[in-house]
Order: sequence, then structure tokens, then C-alpha cells
Amino acid sequence: KLTIKDLDVQGKRVLMRVDFNVPVKDGVVGDDTRITAALPSINYVLENGGSLVLMSHCGRPKGEKNMEFTLKPAADRLAELVSAKVTLAPDVIGPEVKALVEALPAGEILVLENVRFYKEEEGKGCTAEEQDAFAKELASFGDVYVSDAFGTAHRAHASMAVVTKYIDQCAAGFLLSKEIEYLGKALEAPVKPFVAIIGGAKISGKIDVVTNFLDKCDAILIGGGMAYTFYKAQGKAIGGSLVEDDKVELAGQILQQAEAKGVKLMLPVDNMVADAFSADANTKVVGDSIEDGWMALDIGPKTIELYCNEVASAKTVVWNGPMGCFEMKPFAAGTFSVCEAVAKSDSISIIGGGDSVAAVNLSGVADQMSHVSTGGGASLEFMEGKQLPGIVALTDK
Ligand code: 3PG
Repeated sequence: KLTIKDLDVQGKRVLMRVDFNVPVKDGVVGDDTRITAALPSINYVLENGGSLVLMSHCGRPKGEKNMEFTLKPAADRLAELVSAKVTLAPDVIGPEVKALVEALPAGEILVLENVRFYKEEEGKGCTAEEQDAFAKELASFGDVYVSDAFGTAHRAHASMAVVTKYIDQCAAGFLLSKEIEYLGKALEAPVKPFVAIIGGAKISGKIDVVTNFLDKCDAILIGGGMAYTFYKAQGKAIGGSLVEDDKVELAGQILQQAEAKGVKLMLPVDNMVADAFSADANTKVVGDSIEDGWMALDIGPKTIELYCNEVASAKTVVWNGPMGCFEMKPFAAGTFSVCEAVAKSDSISIIGGGDSVAAVNLSGVADQMSHVSTGGGASLEFMEGKQLPGIVALTDK
């Protein structure tokens, strides 16, 4: 498993895949976390005498050159964050780009346009040969290849998983290495007790995570809308709360498996309920039975206390998914209390998934967590125990 430090980048052109799929509004990057997260690798190459050709996607332009998805805002933001000159190429491949690549001096950065401007990137609507040709042309832009795009590692796309066929030396950047180290260690050899907090609206998106964690965790704390599918499996009244009827049986099986494996699977013992899905709704705290006309939108105070106590005694905590509708103030206490408890705990704390990362950032406690993942779908698939194509392509080399 090579990392960027194993490469000699002096005088070399480094082709680096990053994940600059960042929110953009009016041509300006909003949250630049993913750009700053790639800086250690970028600066390492520049400081060690290399030049950089950066590749990324942004949004889903579906193989069309739609400038709504240009990487210009990301390149502009990058230029503010590094001392090197940053140029945005007018395209991804082609003679003009090739000329820019060949003229790139050491210590400078060339950002290619959005790789998803070509259908060959995702490999949809083209032949395998066409995708190979695209990847080969990208590969010709670098002497060595570095992937630092953990956020995209679950996609078997040309710039992640095919390009590696055509370039001899491939390695993981600092960000990708750090993500694999934290997530991998937590799942393979966690310091115990290992507590997972799993929330979010739908059980269907998290089933495989829960199932995988049943073999690794001492306790799993369930919150968010998915809790009520478990309630239904237990025969509890859920009123108008979220439920996935086709997953009730599965939820019942998970509860049985948890018991058989001796894993403490905890569900809310009380709930903050509302009479409408609105920040101005009437609210009250009820136990674990929800009457008609009310829906649960957050875990209740007793559950908060129980979950926070569980977190306080943990040595490893993995959190994915909010405990309630934290975007609305009356239903934010569960998510933010758990967030603070994780930050305060003396554990290795790993946060994955867009919503829980957003909550951590809003709480201002991101720097108190051991690791806040830059992956949404990627960290979810990692937690499901799946092999990520973007990582497999590197380790296969
Ligand atoms: C993400 O934001 O999860 C990654 O950048 C991947 O984007 P995608 O879901 O459009 O493939």
C-alpha cells in the first residue's frame, strides 16, 4: 500500500484525483472542507519539486459540457489557499489541454475541467474501449498518479479506477490514507467498548451498516426516523412517524440478531413529538408509544441522557446520521447533545455521512473529533464493509 511519501515527486508531473465536489452558489464555493482536506497532499508535491495536474468531478453533468458544473469556483478557491499559480484548463482532455500539461513548470497546478463532462468518466453510454482510451489520455498527463479523493472512492469511474491501469506508480494521498486508517481501524480492530450511533430518516439506507456493526460493536444507538420502523417491528404505536412498511420484518430480524449476538441495540425510550412537520408545530415529550395525530421528530430527554452516558464510557465511537430533524430548532436537541457528548468523550471518534458532519460543523466541535470523514456515500459503503473500487484500484497495483 503505497502512500504519496513513497513516491519521488522531484521534477515529476503528479496526476492527482481529488474530490472537489463542493457546494457552489453564484460561482462561489460554500463549504470548502473537501478542498482544504486535499491541501496536505497538494502542498507536499509542490514543496518537493513536483508539478500537479488535478482532476475532479463536480455535480452530475452526465457526460455533457455543461458549464453550470465547471470546476472554476473550486479552482478559484484553491488559488486562494495555496501560494502556487493555479490554472484551470479549458477542457479535460484534447490537444489544448495536452499543451498546457506539457508546459506546466514545477511548483504549479493545472486543474482539469470537470471529468464528468465526458461520459467515459462514469462509463455510462460508451464502450469499455472508449472508457479505456479516455483513462489512457488522462494517465498520459502524469508521471505518477495519486488518489486523494476518498469522497469518490465508491465510484468505479475512469479517473479513479481505470486510470491506474495506464500509469506505473500509483499511491494514496494523505487524506485518503487518513480516511482508510481511521475508518479501517475502527472496523477492523476497534478499541472497546465500541459504540455506533446510527440515525437518519430511512432504515433502508442504513441496513447494511447496522448489520455490519452487529459483528463489531458493543452497543448500537438508533435515532432519527429509522427508529420508528423498529418500533413498529416491536408492535409499538408510532402515530404519524416515518415508517418503511416493507422494512418492518427486516427491522424485527435485526433486533433478534442483536439479542443473539449480545449487542446492546438501543432505541429511543422517549421522543419529542409534533402535530405537524413544521418548526411551529405543537410539541410534547412522550414515551415509546406515539398516538395518532403526532409524529416523532427527535429523541426525548431521557434518551439523550441514556445515549450520552453510553458514549461517555466508549473508547471508539462511530456516528452516522442525525437523531432527529435538527434543521428545525425544536427538534435539534437530540443531534446536538449527542454531538457534544461525542466531542467530550475520551474516545476515538469518527464522524461519517453528510448530515452528521453538517451537525458537527454547526456545533463548532469538529476539531474535537478524531476524524470527520469527507465521504458521504463513500464512508457509508466503507461502514457497510464493502470494498471501494477507488481503493481497490490502488491496492491492486
Ligand atoms: C459525493 O459527494 O458523495 C462524491 O463526490 C460522489 O458524488 P456522486 O454521488 O455524484 O458520485
